Amino acid sequence: MAIIWFWLMTCVLLHIAVLCNAGVTSGFVRKAAWSVDIPKSHFPPPSGTNAPEQVHITQGDHEGSGMIISWVTPFERYPNVVTYWEADAEYEHNKHKHYHKHKTHSTITTYRYYDYSSGYIHHATIKHLKFDTKYFYEVASHNVTRRFSFTTPPKPGPDVPYTFGVIGDLGQTADSNQTLEHYVSNPIKGQAVLFAGDLSYADDHPNHDNTKWDTFGRFIEKSVAYQPWIWSAGNHEIDFAPNLGESVPFKPYLHRYRVPYKASQSTSPLWYSIKRASTYIIVLSSYSAYGKYTPQYKWLEQELPKINRSETPWIIVILHAPWYNSNRYHYMEGESMRVQFEPWFVQHKVDIVFAGHVHSYERSERISNVKYNITNGLSGPVRDSSAPVYITIGDGGNIEGIADNFIDQQPSYSAYREASFGHAILEIKNRTHAYYTWHRNQDNEPVIADSAWFFNRFWYPEDESSINNKEA
Ligand SMILES: *[C@@H]1O[C@H](CO)[C@@H](O)[C@H](O)[C@H]1NC(C)=O
Ligand SMILES: *[C@@H]1O[C@H](CO)[C@@H](O)[C@H](O)[C@H]1NC(C)=O
Ligand SMILES: *[C@@H]1O[C@H](CO)[C@@H](O)[C@H](O)[C@H]1NC(C)=O
Ligand SMILES: *[C@@H]1O[C@H](CO)[C@@H](O)[C@H](O)[C@H]1NC(C)=O
Ligand SMILES: *[C@@H]1O[C@H](CO)[C@@H](O)[C@H](O)[C@H]1NC(C)=O
Ligand SMILES: [Fe+2]
Repeated sequence: MAIIWFWLMTCVLLHIAVLCNAGVTSGFVRKAAWSVDIPKSHFPPPSGTNAPEQVHITQGDHEGSGMIISWVTPFERYPNVVTYWEADAEYEHNKHKHYHKHKTHSTITTYRYYDYSSGYIHHATIKHLKFDTKYFYEVASHNVTRRFSFTTPPKPGPDVPYTFGVIGDLGQTADSNQTLEHYVSNPIKGQAVLFAGDLSYADDHPNHDNTKWDTFGRFIEKSVAYQPWIWSAGNHEIDFAPNLGESVPFKPYLHRYRVPYKASQSTSPLWYSIKRASTYIIVLSSYSAYGKYTPQYKWLEQELPKINRSETPWIIVILHAPWYNSNRYHYMEGESMRVQFEPWFVQHKVDIVFAGHVHSYERSERISNVKYNITNGLSGPVRDSSAPVYITIGDGGNIEGIADNFIDQQPSYSAYREASFGHAILEIKNRTHAYYTWHRNQDNEPVIADSAWFFNRFWYPEDESSINNKEA
């Protein structure tokens, strides 16, 4: 209350009452140059015969004590085993000479796509890890052993701090590389990445050149081999090309990226949920059926009421096509899904929705548009304290370039928008507060181009907009 009063007084005193309600369209606009992919030869495989490559990890169960470890061996099926051990155990028990190393075997898959044949793609699910614990793991082949590490999240609980990176529409250009480099070297250290869809952009190349999936896997390894990326699928994962004889949607993506969907009773890897620290993360598929009675609809309908805000206060949704986007690119492509699911998000007080698809950055106010019922004519986004904040983070910097065409007269639901590439960091502090920052690529890593406090919708449903809105 005091803060709001102070803000109102400031507005009156400075005679900027109009500005106090307006969103910001940043004057910083990246020049609209077409981006090109980094040449494939700049992503060589690791040296050594049949060396395991494209190592990546993601959460492997619902609670956070499991990990899926994936890698590719290019020429031979074997070895198909990952060895792992607790980092502390190595140190403490060294003097006794035998600390315990565990082994888990992978399941192996391969696929063909038009004229491409994949290497051997390994997925090993490790379960029953200790929470909040550092592990080393190794994948080895012949004369090469590759060692990585990860730290499991704390056990889910209401006040467990946790920091996420947020990246979308990454691709493999020099801009993509800058986004990833900035994320990795950001002084605010992300512990896991929420990925808003569109990974390799292989489908932008002739015959969906699937070697681009391999180079993408090598490109992101420096982060994703050490911390889990939580995947959602975008339109560039569909790879539907009947003209090439490829009519099974999501084929390369689903072979390469596994998620723990069965742990949340989902029937498809394209939508699922996990708990991580104090968050409950729901991944949806913009490119799968979501109409009434469809599997995704039925799943989400029974999923949302299950969430125990005393255990995981924060509900975060990741999907690809944004519901609130004031850019001319992909305008309203998320609209039918919004109509279907938005009332549930408001009813269950979802905190934040991350989307990609539009290659720009935008953050909304807390708004909803759920009154319309065909006969009453009540339509339009309005302030709603039960509604999520919508963030479009499709600004990873892929081959398709920047979406620099915002609709004139920024809509009142749009708090901040900017046509630049970058990444975001979401720091969950406790059950009431989260601090969010967006980092554009043109700045040095510590620079914060947009920031906001988010107050939890269940525990502290106060209005944050007055402290978050800044003048242009
Ligand atoms: C692994 O062995 C192969 C064949 O013996 C050799 O050509 C290669 O240089 C070795 N690689 C490493 C990293 O030692
Ligand atoms: C990505 O950027 C880093 C830092 O500038 C550079 O060292 C690296 O070579 C780049 N990677 C590629 C594949 O170009
Ligand atoms: C919700 O979570 C809290 C904290 O973990 C727990 O004490 C409580 O029993 C849970 N409630 C239900 C209905 O499971
Ligand atoms: C539509 O909205 C109007 C006004 O809020 C309400 O009176 C009416 O009952 C609604 N119709 C249906 C079918 O829900
Ligand atoms: C939650 O975190 C915020 C921001 O760090 C802090 O101001 C607040 O006091 C914390 N609340 C509790 C109950 O610790
Ligand atoms: Fe997209």
